[in-house]
Order: sequence, then structure tokens, then C-alpha cells
Amino acid sequence: MIPTPHIEVKDKGIIANTVLMPGDPLRAKFIADTFLENVERFNTVRNVFGYTGTYKGRKISVMASGMGMPSIGIYSYELFEFYGVENIIRIGSCGAYTADLNLYDVILSTEAWSESSFAKVQSGYDSDIIAASTDLNSKLEKFSKELGIEIHKERIHSSDVFYRKNFHEYKEIYEKHGCVAVEMESFALFHNANVLGKKAACLLTVSDNLATEEVTTSEERQNAFTNMMKIALEMAE
Ligand code: ADE
Repeated sequence: MIPTPHIEVKDKGIIANTVLMPGDPLRAKFIADTFLENVERFNTVRNVFGYTGTYKGRKISVMASGMGMPSIGIYSYELFEFYGVENIIRIGSCGAYTADLNLYDVILSTEAWSESSFAKVQSGYDSDIIAASTDLNSKLEKFSKELGIEIHKERIHSSDVFYRKNFHEYKEIYEKHGCVAVEMESFALFHNANVLGKKAACLLTVSDNLATEEVTTSEERQNAFTNMMKIALEMAE
């Protein structure tokens, strides 16, 4: 079923086996402009830009996911199921739940915990924890070592709510569920990968810290997020 309702390219072969997924379409464009050669744009529907190019001579794609589980749920499903994509690596931002994490630290998500009903509604899956692909994670860990970029391997919280009435609830989620940071997409991405027999992983850069109340500006984020991008780009084949 291609093109799909949300991706316009008619030739399956244009999208690489591995797709990097930032949330922001402009970050997808930044990655294509900064790191890729021989770039072809394969999607503009809803301004959710998708590009394929080469990195160090190897093929890779990058496409935005939008924000939240419903959005990444749509794009990852269509890429996996209809475009034959094998691996999706989310590269996003997160809010740290502990003062031990500094702004711009990179986290490799081992598992996503969530109160979301996404997996239950999608396929009746009942657990509130879903693991990332151990195969992709060991590759990403190896690349981070080769590049000399420190990563923290941790469980993270996938939340449906950015603005909680009581933001102090993060302490309970940290203590009870062992999540060191919050983002809004991985639980749905990991679930789709599992139900479709594919692989997914998630690298995050700390953009704010709920414990220390430190924040970054959008301008700072643009450049500081390149460490995580460089690790993920090594997945090009
Ligand atoms: N992504 C970056 N910071 C976040 C936060 N504080 N909550 C949810 N998602 C985030």
C-alpha cells in the first residue's frame, strides 16, 4: 500500500533499510544538509520531511516523527510495514529526572516505561515496559565508544503529557519506575517494531532537567545534538 496516507514516495527502494527519526522536521533537514551526500527528499506531506542520502558512502534515511506517540506510531508503522524499513533509530530530546544528568548528556534507552494505552489499544499488549532492540543498542554502544562519546544506558519514561498539572510527579516516576528522563515517543516506536518483527532504538540528548530546572535554548540545541546524530549515522549501510 504505497504511497501511504502520510508518505508520498512511490518507489520503496528510495528509503534506506535504516531510518533516523528526529521529532522535528527541521532537524531532519539539518541532518541531511550537514551530514549527507547525494540527498534525495522523499517526503513533504504535512511538512514531515524525509531524506535519503549517503554518509561516508553508505546509504541512510532520515525522516521526522512529529511529537508524541500517535504521530511516531503512524510514521514508524508505515515505514516498517509498507516501505520495508528494518531499523528505526529515534534521535530526540529529553527532560532529565535526576540532577546526576547534565544538559547535553546522551542517553541510550534500554527500555521505555509508559502509562500510555498505545500498545494495549494497538494489539492488546498489556505491559507498561517495552525494550529497545538489544542488537541495535549494542551497535550504537560500539559506535559511541569508537567516537569517544559517553552514553548513559537507562530506562526512560515515554509520556503523553508535556505540561503536567503537578510537574513534581516526576520524582515518583523516577523512584517507582526507575526512569531517569522523559520523552514522548519511544514506547510506541518500540511496540511497532516488536509487532512488525522489526528493530528500533532511541538515543536522547538532555535538553532540560526537571530536578535542577536547567533548560537549553533552541539555538543551543541545534548544534549540541550533533553527538547523538553522529553515533546514529554510523548505522548507514
Ligand atoms: N522532551 C524534552 N524535554 C521534555 C520534557 N520535559 N518532557 C517531555 N518530553 C521532553
